[in-house]
Amino acid sequence: MNIVKTVDQVRAQVKAWRAEGLSVGLVPTMGYLHEGHGSLISKAVEQNDRVVVSVFVNPTQFGPNEDLEAYPRDMNRDSALCEKLGASLIFNPEPSEMYRPGFCTHVNMDVLTSTLCGASRPVHFGGVCTVCSKLFNIVKPDRAYFGQKDAQQLAIIRRMVEDLNMDLEIVACPIVREEDGLAKSSRNTYLNEDERKAALVLSKAIFLGQDMVKDGATSAAEVKKAMTDLINSEPLARIDYVEIVDGLTMQPVEEIGAPTLAAIAVYIGKTRLIDNFIV
Ligand code: PAJ
Repeated sequence: MNIVKTVDQVRAQVKAWRAEGLSVGLVPTMGYLHEGHGSLISKAVEQNDRVVVSVFVNPTQFGPNEDLEAYPRDMNRDSALCEKLGASLIFNPEPSEMYRPGFCTHVNMDVLTSTLCGASRPVHFGGVCTVCSKLFNIVKPDRAYFGQKDAQQLAIIRRMVEDLNMDLEIVACPIVREEDGLAKSSRNTYLNEDERKAALVLSKAIFLGQDMVKDGATSAAEVKKAMTDLINSEPLARIDYVEIVDGLTMQPVEEIGAPTLAAIAVYIGKTRLIDNFIV
């Protein structure tokens, strides 16, 4: 497995694969890979002849007071995991390779980006759309893999691919959790021992909401209140949002139907964690 730093190197490799008639999958990541990312890579290896994993902590999707500098990195561990899972190539560009001097073209989206994480992180999804468009143009994959963990991101990427007629399939992969329920995230490494225990309130609230819906609850307000009360019972937790929205438009709904997304973002100490379930 090769690790390359430039767009030209990726293009040359993909061109050679295409000449052999091979299919190509892409797994976009910001690195510090865990089993959540691993599940995307394994799925991609299953469905494609060759798999490119991009490892790029994308500066344009971080707001001015967010954790860009602190974001954890470990290329040696990442490449060992990619190799073990059968990926063919890692694309690990420097920011200066992705954003050349004079860069001024951005992909932005309305509606779906106005709620949930888009409301509290105003520049975030523009950065995600821009970098994913670039990665799709660089790799030209048959399929790209995204986790349900970032449900709004997944909906936005699907919408962008549809709206801009991008010629690839988006494949969604389920949330991978720790044994105790906490959704796996590179940001979990920020948590100290007490915070790690407190962080369980996120998955508990998700499971509570899910059970209520399974038992027939259809009032978004009722489910939202139960989830909110549970999270508020944890002293180290501070709610950013608890929302129940339409699974396609990301706009709030009153009645839970299908597809509905229940999504939460909660600060545990200084660390902002997210979780969700889809009806
Ligand atoms: P990152 O947070 O590294 O996540 C990369 C991919 O892994 C995303 O599609 C995310 O949903 C998925 N993922 C993360 N944790 C997961 C879990 N516990 N279970 C299942 N999938 C999980 O998301 C990004 O990077 C960036 O925004 C990116 C798309 C790479 C653009 O920069």
